[in-house]
Parts: sequence; C-alpha cells; structure tokens
Amino acid sequence: MKIASNKLSHLYTYYKTELALLYEDDELYAIFETVCETYLKFTKAEVKQKFESNLNQSDLIKIYDAAKELKKGTPVQYVLKEAFFYDLFFNVTPAVLIPRPETEELVDLILKELKTTKQRALKIIDIGTGSGCIPITLKKHIPQAEVVGIDISEKALEVARTNAVKQNVEVTFKSIDILSKDASSHISHLISHHVPFSIIISNPPYIALSESKQMEARVLKHEPHLALFVEDTDPIIFYKQIIDLCRDHLEPAGYLFFELNPLFALEVKNYANTVNLFNFTELIVDMSGKNRFLKAQKK
Ligand SMILES: C[S@@+](CC[C@H](N)C(=O)[O-])C[C@H]1O[C@@H](n2cnc3c(N)ncnc32)[C@H](O)[C@@H]1O
Repeated sequence: MKIASNKLSHLYTYYKTELALLYEDDELYAIFETVCETYLKFTKAEVKQKFESNLNQSDLIKIYDAAKELKKGTPVQYVLKEAFFYDLFFNVTPAVLIPRPETEELVDLILKELKTTKQRALKIIDIGTGSGCIPITLKKHIPQAEVVGIDISEKALEVARTNAVKQNVEVTFKSIDILSKDASSHISHLISHHVPFSIIISNPPYIALSESKQMEARVLKHEPHLALFVEDTDPIIFYKQIIDLCRDHLEPAGYLFFELNPLFALEVKNYANTVNLFNFTELIVDMSGKNRFLKAQKK
C-alpha cells in the first residue's frame, strides 16, 4: 500500500492497513503514538494536534520503515531500541527482556519500603538484571545507595552498562551465573569489605517451558528465552538458590524482594518459610490481583 501524502494522518492510515492483523485499534494507536514520540519528539498531545500536518521526507521514511519492522511482529521497543520504565527511558536490544509494568510495581514497592526505613548506607543487589532497569531506577531515586546488578548474559550486561551511562548513575554490573556452585564466593567480592547486602532483589526467569504454548508469538519469537524460561522439573530453581544465598549475603533485618510467577507464588513462599531465615514472608498482589511479589525480612 502507498501512503497518500506526507500528512501524519495518512501515515496512521497506512499503519492501520498494514498492521490491522497484528494489533487491536487501541494498541495500534498507542504504538503509532510511541513511534511519533520517539522519532518526532512529539508529546502525546502534539501527535493529536499535528495529525493533519505534513512531515519532512526523512521523518516520513523513519516512521514508514518502523512499520515494516512492526509487521514482522517485532515489539515496538525493539524497533525503537528504547523502552520506558518507571520514569526513565532504557536502551533495549533483543539480548534483554523488555521491562514489564509488573516490574515497575516491584520497584515502586521497594521505594515505598525504603521511604519508611531510616536513611542509611544501603547496599542493593539485583540478580538477573537484564537491561539494568531495576538497579538503575533505584540508584536514581536513592543516590546514596551502593547498587550492583548481575546477570549470566554478557550481552545483557553491555546493554545495562549503556543504560547506566545514559542515566548518569554509578551501578556495578558483573557477569555471574547465580546457579553456579561458586556464585556465593563471587557475590562476596562484589562490594566493599564483603559486607552483606541490605536488599536483595530478583525478577528471575520464571515461565515453565510447558507454559510457552499459551504465550504470544511476538514474545516467543523476539524476546530472549534465557530471560524467560525455566525447566518444568524445577520451576522455582532460581528462587530457592537466591533464598539460600540470603543466609550469607543479606544483613539482619534486610529485605528480599522477588517478582513471581503467580502459579508458583505459594511454593516460593513455603520454601522461604522452611529455611527459617526470615521474620516474615509476605505475598503481594499486582494490579490485576495476582500473587506477583514476595517481600521477606531477614531475622
Ligand atoms: C526475567 S529477566 C529480568 C530482567 C530485568 N531484571 C527486568 O526485570 O526487566 C531474567 C534475567 O535473568 C538472567 N539470567 C538467566 N539465567 C541466569 C543465571 N543463571 N544467572 C544470572 N542471571 C541469569 C537473564 O539473562 C535475564 O536478564
């Protein structure tokens, strides 16, 4: 299909025709708006106001080319190489998971918890950091904290480091396989004087492989499987390992925060209760009412 003119409204008609099979109307408009925000530096209001304005040829081509990528099913964040998370824009590549709204809720929970505790030298670690969206957002809001992000994927860590530079914050990123036997000794060397962390956070891979049949093709085809999946035989393997690491690496009265698969939330909580390390363990629901987070405080 050809575009009738350089008008923004005609580009939108083009998007609707080309992408109708992939997206519902509302979602399609939101995608078009995001593309215009990124390439034209328009606000949402300006996209509406300038609907009948003409674009220059170079902007027109950029938005037109984005539609070609979107038509392949590529998520808009990978097309634009950028994703909005909490209150910041993060670089994303197919090596990292696109940050999700549930994870914004997790960050919000942590920030609210920290507002109620007294200001002190916090040491925070995010395990399975991906784009670095969790530690970088926390460091922006709690500049005095010493913050570390670890991941098994060097490619993800490269993206996380570009994000720390983009946001002008100091976060240490390190490659560690959290399931390896020597993970504990690597973690000991991450921060000054080997002191334990005040907060341990993780949104680890948590989708059982058997659940992949019900997942959107867009996610399955484009997002890194290393970030998504765990074996059906032990779907809470990451949680058990991280809970065990709390024995040596979480300070007394320190907090553990997890993002969870609601299907295994109780199993994770029960495991955390069996190790006898915590004052309390609490499941917290997300905005759709599902058990999505675990908060626990060490004795
Ligand atoms: C669900 S993603 C979370 C990414 C990011 N924290 C977020 O919330 O958007 C899980 C992350 O765990 C990492 N990962 C997978 N296996 C790991 C392992 N054995 N050790 C450390 N990190 C691992 C993946 O590379 C991925 O970046």
